[in-house]
Amino acid sequence: MIPLLNIPKLHSPFQTEIEESFRELLLTGQFINGPQIEEFEKKVIEFTGSKFALATGSGTDSLMLTLMALGVKSGDEVITTPYTFFSTAGSIARLGAVPVFVDIENSTFNIDPKLIDAAITDKTVGIIPVHLFGNCADMTSIQKIAAEKSLFIIEDAAQAIGAKQNGKFAGNMGDAAIFSFFPAKNLGALGDAGGVVTNNSKLYKKMLALRSHGAEKKYHHKYIGGNFRMDSLQAAMLNIKFKFLDEWTNKRRSVAGYYNTQFAGIKELVTPELENDFHVYNQYVIRVPANRRSSIIELFKKREIGFGIYYPAPLHLQPCFDYLGYKRGSLPKAEIACLENLALPIDPNISPDEMKLVAETVKEGMNI
Ligand SMILES: Cc1ncc(COP(=O)(O)O)c(C=O)c1O
Repeated sequence: MIPLLNIPKLHSPFQTEIEESFRELLLTGQFINGPQIEEFEKKVIEFTGSKFALATGSGTDSLMLTLMALGVKSGDEVITTPYTFFSTAGSIARLGAVPVFVDIENSTFNIDPKLIDAAITDKTVGIIPVHLFGNCADMTSIQKIAAEKSLFIIEDAAQAIGAKQNGKFAGNMGDAAIFSFFPAKNLGALGDAGGVVTNNSKLYKKMLALRSHGAEKKYHHKYIGGNFRMDSLQAAMLNIKFKFLDEWTNKRRSVAGYYNTQFAGIKELVTPELENDFHVYNQYVIRVPANRRSSIIELFKKREIGFGIYYPAPLHLQPCFDYLGYKRGSLPKAEIACLENLALPIDPNISPDEMKLVAETVKEGMNI
């Protein structure tokens, strides 16, 4: 069996270190706001180069927290992509604001900046580009539009810790950026965890208060916030794993490089590019025609090779967003991408033989 990602195996070299740090935490009893949280935030600042970082309960909490801090309210419109995890748009809608979906680029699966202008109205307040699969959206173009129209940018870097564009780390190309440390992410906790970074001190202070029910001082509530905190236990785990992040990312990139070489020149198979920016490959996702995808999946199942479909349906066609009025055909590129995407195993510990079997199986499914 070749899993998409083998998390226990990833942890095995430092299992004892994890156990020791948890034992220590159990003895101190500081399960909330322990010193592990501040240590983790410092590591995020060092790693991303952002001025401020907040540890949160999840990527979703981070989106809610950031949107609330930016003052997003009922009736505001926020532009984003329909080809992402639900949470990006769900968080906008949970505040009574309107997610406005803009179609994607075929080559990257990311929001197409050329289509953003047409979606801007006098109600538009911001843009949430998603760095999908670990590859940055075209931030130069998006920054230009946001500056011209005075819109905020929240980078949804849930899948993209360590990704770069024009030498800048994800997290430094907007007003704020959010990360997810869900176990399957490049830096994954033992459960739900997330983070926000910003270079804006005013925004940081507001987010800090909002994270603890809007209190700047305990039991004195300046804002109506929420409980968006990360548990000390998750921070302890992430602090240990942080030192391996670069090594794991480089391994992911070399697995991706191998697949790209194997698939080069295959007609009707589109690979994600390594050269353009610094892709961290939270997922390695190819595009193949839908009928070929079924053949490959059949073979994968027979050979017990893990795979993923990210995503099977675009957000503008989800039943909960019926009220927004999108129809099939409204955003055709995202709709087609849902039929053609296929994520291959990208485990940093995958062996050369396993990679070879994955690549050969894809080619067999493509009839090559
Ligand atoms: C693009 C994107 N945004 C937001 C999230 C939400 O993160 P979480 O699951 O930590 O709440 C995810 C999680 O998979 C994601 O992939």
